[in-house]
Amino acid sequence: MKILVTGGAGFIGSNFLYYLFAKYENLFVVNLDKLTYAGNLKNLSELEKKAGKNYVFIRGGIEEEKLVTEILHKYDIEYIINFAAESHVDRSIDNPYPFITTNVLGTQNLLECARKKGIKKFIHISTDEVYGSLGKEGKFTENTPLAPNSPYSASKASADLICRSYYKTYNFPVVITRCSNNYGPYQFPEKLIPLTFLKASKNEPIPVYGKGENIRDWIFVEDHCRGIDLALSKGKPGKVYNFGGQAEKTNLEVVKAILDFLGKPHTLIKFVQDRPGHDFRYAMDFSLASKELGFYPSLTFEQGLEKTLTWYTQNLSWIESILSGEYLEFMRKWYAKR
Ligand code: NAD
Ligand code: DAU
Repeated sequence: MKILVTGGAGFIGSNFLYYLFAKYENLFVVNLDKLTYAGNLKNLSELEKKAGKNYVFIRGGIEEEKLVTEILHKYDIEYIINFAAESHVDRSIDNPYPFITTNVLGTQNLLECARKKGIKKFIHISTDEVYGSLGKEGKFTENTPLAPNSPYSASKASADLICRSYYKTYNFPVVITRCSNNYGPYQFPEKLIPLTFLKASKNEPIPVYGKGENIRDWIFVEDHCRGIDLALSKGKPGKVYNFGGQAEKTNLEVVKAILDFLGKPHTLIKFVQDRPGHDFRYAMDFSLASKELGFYPSLTFEQGLEKTLTWYTQNLSWIESILSGEYLEFMRKWYAKR
């Protein structure tokens, strides 16, 4: 199997590469990653040793037509899994431009290069955020209309629609997966769980938006990786599959669980100004993925959180090493406004 993985130096992409190489033997993977602030080759140091000649890293953007075409032909790529994206909602509010360049234009370029090459299957990694926000009841299904509320989710919904058009117009074998909030090793500490861990371990205030009542459906990253692998082997071209963790929690519940694990006081919680356009609740109905792919989340939130926080506790040097000047500058600017 010859696979191009894009964005493989990010959080989910690097976990997926470990998953793939642990599961398959007859495998060759090219990882194309631009190494933005969120991409980190340190995530992959163990993988490079394990995979040896069956793994190649190339630094570059999915929006680069010549580079992508060269890679597809040089390595005779059969499958593509597109993780590459600008992924943080707050950054999309601060500056939407790179979200359009990568998530929309980059995805279209990748699809077009792949169509010309004749790829067997293209898995596009999308998100529950394309559906917008839920009230207190109900869940998102694959038939829920797209109603994105942030520049990030609008860029992901746009990419999903371009994928759809490639299937309808060219019969191009694209499968879209939409997942809820991931957590686990190697997540960049701008996202709620690693940010809370980092702040709490330094006894710094933890910024909770609004009243902390917003709800996310949390999934351990390895469960998401298994779902993507199932979509690669069994997903039907042109279809969308939802993945979720069956673990709805308010942000306050999540933050308190982390503080309790670390033995830190709840007084570290600091309620700050809400995120503009903040979606209230996400919850995924993944019955289609269960029926057609055999997908189910294997860990409860409590099990997954313990694994995650244990990993962060044992890898404090990892978290410290990726705190670049750019990260600190964004955090300072963003939270100064709240
Ligand atoms: P991340 O920000 O941790 O990683 C993104 C990776 O993409 C980084 O390595 C970055 O360097 C790379 N990248 C950015 N722009 C690029 C470009 N133009 N060309 C090539 N590489 C580029 O993101 P993540 O959390 O791992 O998310 C991966 C994918 O999964 C994204 O498409 C995201 O929308 C989707 N997703 C994320 C979650 C979540 O909870 N994190 C949930 C559902 C879906
Ligand atoms: O639902 C899937 C999405 O999950 C992915 O598509 C995105 O790429 C990923 O970033 C994530 O988006 P969220 O906006 O839900 O994740 P984040 O960790 O930024 O925020 C989770 C919740 O915590 C959200 O309700 C906002 C809140 N929050 C976040 C931060 C960073 C806070 O209260 N304080 C914070 O400092």
